[in-house]
Amino acid sequence: MITRISQSLKTKNVLIGITGGIAAYKACYLIRLFKKYVANVKTVITKNGLEFVTETTLRTLSENKVYSNTFSDSNEWSTEHISLTDWADIFIIAPATANIIGKYANGIADDALSTALLAFDKQVIIAPAMNGKMYENPAVQRNIDILRQQGVFFIDPGYGDLACGYKAKGRMAEPDEIFRESLYFLNKTDQLSGKKILISASRTVEMIDPVRYISNFSSGKTGFRLAEEALYTGAETVLVTGPTEEVCSNFIRRTDVSSSEDMYNEIIRESKDADCVIMSAAVADYTVNRSDKKIKKNKNDMTLDLLKTKDILKELGRIKRKGQILVGFALETDKGVLNAKKKLKEKNLDLIILNETNEKNPAFGSDFNRVTFISKSGFEEFPLMNKSEIAKLIIDKISALIK
Ligand code: CTP
Repeated sequence: MITRISQSLKTKNVLIGITGGIAAYKACYLIRLFKKYVANVKTVITKNGLEFVTETTLRTLSENKVYSNTFSDSNEWSTEHISLTDWADIFIIAPATANIIGKYANGIADDALSTALLAFDKQVIIAPAMNGKMYENPAVQRNIDILRQQGVFFIDPGYGDLACGYKAKGRMAEPDEIFRESLYFLNKTDQLSGKKILISASRTVEMIDPVRYISNFSSGKTGFRLAEEALYTGAETVLVTGPTEEVCSNFIRRTDVSSSEDMYNEIIRESKDADCVIMSAAVADYTVNRSDKKIKKNKNDMTLDLLKTKDILKELGRIKRKGQILVGFALETDKGVLNAKKKLKEKNLDLIILNETNEKNPAFGSDFNRVTFISKSGFEEFPLMNKSEIAKLIIDKISALIK
């Protein structure tokens, strides 16, 4: 997982509440993720939570004092756990037992964690973890519904082996997912709220026969980072992606496609009311006259019939609405600036991001890239940066262009 280490995250305070469940060990990894990306972390843990992880572990990982007892002598003053809630920007309960969910939904405060929770008036994120039958219990579901209606964000548990021996829905979501969804609440602004940004990512796959295909090495990293940054502007964010290992926030509306034809149809349909379209996908330039049956190796040589695909970006440039911003990418191995400028003009774009791929800048698959922005008004060259930082620069540039 890559994300940029942002200046703004440095000033963010994250409070993690841990209750008594075996998934408490995963909370340790969650703390590490926040610390890696430089947010400040404090933890508050219930008495049962301390059966699973120790205060020493939490203190060491968070580099902060751990709050566990409302009337502990070591507290500087008796309402310290309340002042914690002023300090924190978000409060994440991971793992959350049926007990804490029930207490919170019914306004019960009988220890440091539940008291802090009731006193907290900003975004609460809850990652439940419990036995599958407990999770399905109507009383638990009713409490979850009450909290959802109050604006609490739930990260649903996954299906899998539970510590109690059952295979059911009840496993706490993975720390990566909790972290990803939390970033949305920490980073979001209303800079582009009411706008729609459409992004294509990854590669397309052109089938030769039922078992073979032609494609390229595009990983989707840039497109996914762009979608994250677009989401943080408050814009409605739509991601149309080819095959990829990348994952994105549930707040992004994602559609998976395979062939260039599928991508064309989806992008053209979604672009109608989009304020900005960013084509970062490496769309195949040729598709194959596909065989319905597996091709046999009867001959010493063979020829594939390749047919030119529709250029999605060129079509977007042709049907472009007034005020709509079109952004393309140019992947070049030589005469980069010249070729990118040609594409900018031919495809009627507002901005083109040039990446020149060579041994020094592999671009495909790497977390880093070296890019140049080219628009009608000139060009800006950037040093090697991580793809998250590049995505932020692109979205900042687009924000300035969108009226
Ligand atoms: N693109 C597209 N539809 C295609 C091919 C490319 O929308 N069928 C888009 C890409 O998403 C990218 C831009 O066009 O934003 C430029 O893609 P690139 O592969 O660099 O250039 P091509 O236009 O395909 O030209 P060439 O391969 O000859 O360099």
